[in-house]
Amino acid sequence: MTLVPPMVARRVGAARQLHGELRLPSDKSIAHRALLFNAMAAGSADVLVRRPGADVRSTAGALHALGALEGVDELEGGATRFRVRGGGTDAAAGLPGTGGETIDCGNSGTTVRFLTGALAGRGAAAMTTLTGDESLSRRPMERVAAPLRQMGASVQTSDGRLPIHVLGRRRLTATIHRLPVASAQVLGAISLAALSAEGRTTIETPGPTRDHTERLLAWLGAPIERVGMTTTIDGPAVLTARSCDVPGDLSSAAAWLVAASVHPDAEIRLRDVGLNPSRLAVVDVLREMGADIDQEPGGTDRGPEPTGDLLVRSVGGLRAIVLSGARIAELIDELPLLAIAMAAATGTSEVRDAAELRVKESDRVALVVRNLRAVGVEAEELPDGWRIEGLGGAAHARAHARSSEPIEIETNGDHRIAISFAVAALTGLVPDVAIDDPACVDVSYAGFWSDLDSLTGSAS
Ligand code: S3P
Repeated sequence: MTLVPPMVARRVGAARQLHGELRLPSDKSIAHRALLFNAMAAGSADVLVRRPGADVRSTAGALHALGALEGVDELEGGATRFRVRGGGTDAAAGLPGTGGETIDCGNSGTTVRFLTGALAGRGAAAMTTLTGDESLSRRPMERVAAPLRQMGASVQTSDGRLPIHVLGRRRLTATIHRLPVASAQVLGAISLAALSAEGRTTIETPGPTRDHTERLLAWLGAPIERVGMTTTIDGPAVLTARSCDVPGDLSSAAAWLVAASVHPDAEIRLRDVGLNPSRLAVVDVLREMGADIDQEPGGTDRGPEPTGDLLVRSVGGLRAIVLSGARIAELIDELPLLAIAMAAATGTSEVRDAAELRVKESDRVALVVRNLRAVGVEAEELPDGWRIEGLGGAAHARAHARSSEPIEIETNGDHRIAISFAVAALTGLVPDVAIDDPACVDVSYAGFWSDLDSLTGSAS
């Protein structure tokens, strides 16, 4: 019998101040791509990732299973160097290996969806099976499988979910895709398959999405272009492996942008963050709400992504906001954190057109609303978002009696829910909370709790 140690909840209460400077973990969206695309390329490359979280390790584990990982070096200061060996020595040979592998993608939607696209065009003699944890096994996979089948790929899902079975084909057919959801994961999966298709593949999305796939594939030599909401790839194409450093994660930065904007005594510098314009919507929204955030371009990272510093300071209060339409896709991962800013703001805020949130690592609409209510914020669940009555005023005006029992936050193992409600309590906006599964933050943000301690001055 294996004994599983009981999970110890982590208590978070109001910090007196939030001051300091952080170098965040590398962006997981970019890290997945840098690892996988180099594994599909001709040659070898080193990918440097700061504090890789569980999701990035899932992609690295997949490369290991495929024989594309030559080594992993843990460097001083928390960075990891992944030595990747590409399989694409001739046009669109793609990933190494001949099939027959079973790959566990853990909790990572990007890993499984990108791999499905990458494997679809690999000449393979046997089927590859993709599995994942309980949360990933609930998430929809036909959105990737269906367009790939249209290109001639052999991809089966299990009633639309995991496990996925892929039998790589050497040549796929270039087709035109009009995606029903603005998903960078689906766009990326089709783009990878398009590398082994004969002719021009076209992908139209109903709204803007992050463009890391286009930037990195172009940097590795692929004929890929995005104009407006249309991406085209001319295949078959060979990628050339290139070493790169992955910049800090803007979605992790968002935790501190919200925390410092709500807290009455805060000033935080976030160094070497990825400042890709397709990820900066959260900065724009917080500024519209009244936040004081400066951007200082610069940075030294090797790769196709712009980087720089972000500097955020306390403000006297935030204004309510209504978010809907095309900008939702660009904010999708930051909406739970923006719900905390909305809870602090003066007035009624709303999020609409965000039903996608219900099929993330958890049903984030339901969990955000349930947990906000638990901590005393008036919130209403809508089919595609939420309505929040902001508490208004500066957080320090509400001196909470430090309850002996903290309010329990139900995370369902979802990293973004855990981080969002830790931030809410840290600012003093709501009473003390107990995060039921503190370790789940490691999915995207390894070292979140030690960064929190360093900003509050309680680091050992
Ligand atoms: C991601 C895209 C988003 C996002 C996920 C990472 C990516 O998913 O939620 O965390 O790296 O492309 P969708 O594009 O499916 O919304």
